[in-house]
Amino acid sequence: MTLTEAIETRHSVRRYKEEAIPEVILSVIRDKVREINEKGNLHVQLVTEEPKAFSGIMSYGSFSGVRNYFVMAGRKADDLDERIGYYGEQLVLLAQMLGLNTCWAGLSYSKIPGTYELDEDERIRCYIAFGYGLTQGVAHKEKSAKEVSNTSDLVPKWFVRGVHAALKAPTAVNQQKFFLEYIGVRDGARLPRVAARSSFSLVGYTKMDLGIVKCHFEIAAGPETFEWA
Ligand SMILES: Cc1cc2nc3c(=O)[nH]c(=O)nc-3n(C[C@H](O)[C@H](O)[C@H](O)COP(=O)(O)O)c2cc1C
Repeated sequence: MTLTEAIETRHSVRRYKEEAIPEVILSVIRDKVREINEKGNLHVQLVTEEPKAFSGIMSYGSFSGVRNYFVMAGRKADDLDERIGYYGEQLVLLAQMLGLNTCWAGLSYSKIPGTYELDEDERIRCYIAFGYGLTQGVAHKEKSAKEVSNTSDLVPKWFVRGVHAALKAPTAVNQQKFFLEYIGVRDGARLPRVAARSSFSLVGYTKMDLGIVKCHFEIAAGPETFEWA
């Protein structure tokens, strides 16, 4: 499975099978955690075979069988949420390519003492559950490309592809509160520019959503096609 196929087939899955994840698969995931912690300056932690975080009162009714998850943490910073989104979605798409399923969780989890470590200035911003799903989930309702971008007949194909992939991105309560603007080449820039913005939401998580959306957009638009404004 390619990353593009992972974007198309991924849906949130909240109910999981008992099946343990083989060590060969876990070691690929561990390598990726190490990579994103380094590149994203994060403190993401992998927790396996731990059933309590998603079985408490917080997740009653929606989650079942979750025993593996990522603790999405990092040092306090203005851009922490966006980095958690951007790099966390790389874990989500890798998991999908490895035949696993996932679900981001901003609220539906409990922190279990002893399963993670935090330095004094570090914060947990969310969890991501993963494992072998009982189903593959269902496609979410998407806004139109015009609602989330300035797409038109004049924008390049890679921008249209990027917006399509952005609309497939998971966002908290499927709020899709983002806007992608094709700016083009300005002021002697080497590459065309794209601006990504989030808009206000009472639910919050819009910066995390934006990081996830940017991850999808970049994969679909292709490397070396544009730069973020
Ligand atoms: C930052 C973030 C936080 C989320 N928090 C929760 C949560 O607490 N509980 C939950 O059941 N789903 C949660 N979700 C999953 C969203 O509801 C889901 O991604 C959205 O409805 C779109 O559906 P899809 O992921 O199947 O495409 C969260 C998603 C994101 C991106």
